[in-house]
Amino acid sequence: MPIESNRKPLVIGNWKMNGSSAANASLLRGVLPLVSIFESVDVAICPPFPYLTTVADLLDNSDVGLGAQNLSEQRSGACTGEVSASMLHDVGCRFVLVGHSERRTLYAEDDELVANKFSAALHAGLTPVLCVGETLEQRQRGETRALVTTQLNAVLKVVGITDLARGVIAYEPVWAIGTGETATPGQAQAVHRHIRQWLADRDRTAAAQCRILYGGSVKADNAEQLFGQPDIDGGLIGGASLDVQSFAAICRAAQSEPASDSIAI
Ligand code: PGA
Repeated sequence: MPIESNRKPLVIGNWKMNGSSAANASLLRGVLPLVSIFESVDVAICPPFPYLTTVADLLDNSDVGLGAQNLSEQRSGACTGEVSASMLHDVGCRFVLVGHSERRTLYAEDDELVANKFSAALHAGLTPVLCVGETLEQRQRGETRALVTTQLNAVLKVVGITDLARGVIAYEPVWAIGTGETATPGQAQAVHRHIRQWLADRDRTAAAQCRILYGGSVKADNAEQLFGQPDIDGGLIGGASLDVQSFAAICRAAQSEPASDSIAI
């Protein structure tokens, strides 16, 4: 029997290492009035660390959530240069990205570290957004599902299925990030379905509730088709989140998609 799921679409803007005080204020001045009208979509923004508090102020009185792009797996102490989950919570973050492919590739974050960061985020009351996805070579070798499964298993081992599903999962094929190459809706849906089935095999309720986002060159003109796939519950948006009209159009595209599952869970 299919379970009726009530997953609300979620669109997260990942600003990466871009912005300035003035540019952020101007971007949000444009974005906020446009996205605030989409009541059926959750929207969040992940600015760089130094801007979290000022962006939190700018988001005050709006429904747009605040997130960070990274965190330490440690709770506190002698970790020069690191930022803890409780600090992020303290300054108003609700979300934090964990295991983004740029962190995995450029800063050598492995599955175990990612899992510990996921756990630290949950314990501080944040919603971790776990990024998973394959490189082009891995896709060409037919390893996509196995790789994504390994990345999920690492987090499962540390937090268990119930807590894993309290987070958000973002499928981000590395070859589609910042490249202008997007997975076709069919390619993306196939991996999302695999993730949903992986969840369902462990906990059917968790599978029905957990939001799975797609990321990788989502733009105004491909968002609707991607978000129209049954197991895609919104997007993690890099480049296009820095443009007022593009980000607003992507949020609009997420608005009317009722959650439906490709599998009976
Ligand atoms: P992109 O980035 O939209 O610029 O491809 C997505 C991401 O890295 O989260």
